[in-house]
Amino acid sequence: MIPAHYQFDTFHGKRIHLGVTGSIAAYKALDLTRAFLHLHLQVGVTLTASARKFVTELSFGALGADPLYTDMFTAGANFDHLEPSVADVFIVAPATANIVAKMAHGIADDLLSCQLLAYPGPILVAPAMNPRMWAALATKDNWNILGQRGVVRIEPECGSVACGDTGQGRLAPLDEIFIHTLAALSPQDLRGRKIMLTLGPTREYFDKARFWSNPSSGIMGASLAVAAALRGAEVTAITGPVDIALPSMIRRIPVVTAREMFEAAADIFPSQDIGCFTAAVADFRPPACPTGKYKKSGEPLSLTFESNADILATLSKEKKSWQQTIGFAAESQDLEANARLKMDRKNLDLIVANPIDEPGAGFAAPTNRVVVMDRLGRQESWPLLPKTEVAWRIWDWISMNTP
Ligand code: C5P
Repeated sequence: MIPAHYQFDTFHGKRIHLGVTGSIAAYKALDLTRAFLHLHLQVGVTLTASARKFVTELSFGALGADPLYTDMFTAGANFDHLEPSVADVFIVAPATANIVAKMAHGIADDLLSCQLLAYPGPILVAPAMNPRMWAALATKDNWNILGQRGVVRIEPECGSVACGDTGQGRLAPLDEIFIHTLAALSPQDLRGRKIMLTLGPTREYFDKARFWSNPSSGIMGASLAVAAALRGAEVTAITGPVDIALPSMIRRIPVVTAREMFEAAADIFPSQDIGCFTAAVADFRPPACPTGKYKKSGEPLSLTFESNADILATLSKEKKSWQQTIGFAAESQDLEANARLKMDRKNLDLIVANPIDEPGAGFAAPTNRVVVMDRLGRQESWPLLPKTEVAWRIWDWISMNTP
């Protein structure tokens, strides 16, 4: 399934056209179609003759894909075989060596190749084939030609393929194809910006088996990271220990403790345009256990915690005039006043505040209700929204208000 933090309402109603060719991976195109329909995109499909040996137009139609195309010569009188030209993006998944070759050389000998040749918009190609076919010099040359023409190329992954061979040739994961499709549909208003994010919790071990942490899910930070990457930014995510997917277009630096997160952020931030600090960093760390593991003795365990450095405050104080920092504030009272104080105290450009004790907002929820304020005195209160929508609006704010 496609993770919730990859799903942005902004794409509702966009039209995509999916070309399916004759690979055993054709069945995966059904899941891809479902994922797009789930996001309320309109999905048209063209199946080649060989694709129809593996999957049928009935399956795509039953899911809700419309229009469906198969053969150039069996259509009704009003049939416009180049109709996909009105789609916002054209994806070929899975793409065989054959369709890659035909696209590279402008061959238009069936319906899909005609549609692709005539299509004026962005094209994505995700091949699936036998590893020896993928490695063939002819395929490599054809693949390079597509790259030179600006086709978005989603390379197959390595592993075992249906015929028993092992190597590169498996269709890329569906969430990668999904995210590249959304990127092709996104404004590229953050292109050229380098954005670093911290996200998730940190863990502070007090012996080899136990740690002090918090239930941060990382969803808010991951939504921000994905939204920024879709909009063209070069994104680095420093992630605390949390099981959250990020697309391969995001550089991921996994850390565990607050100190590791600090070191990674301090190393990367000087080269960044924007630092966005969503991590729920542990403010304190326990001392190291002298024996490796505390034994149960029936006696209370008493430890003195030390303060961890505030990553955001430290890096924000040192930032250059062209750098911006975004902080988060989970508040239990006087939300706006406390958030504004925090923005000033930590020298932030933007702060996103949310009530800590409201149902549907905060730590582990998929939604959030936030108040956003910036250093120029602008302030907005947003209703309860999916975190992906909050993320999209934060980048709208940054994109509109900074050059
Ligand atoms: O002061 P408070 O913890 O409420 O501030 C929250 C903001 O500061 C968040 O953006 C969080 O990521 C960041 N922070 C940090 N390092 C800490 C504590 C908080 O970067 N040690």
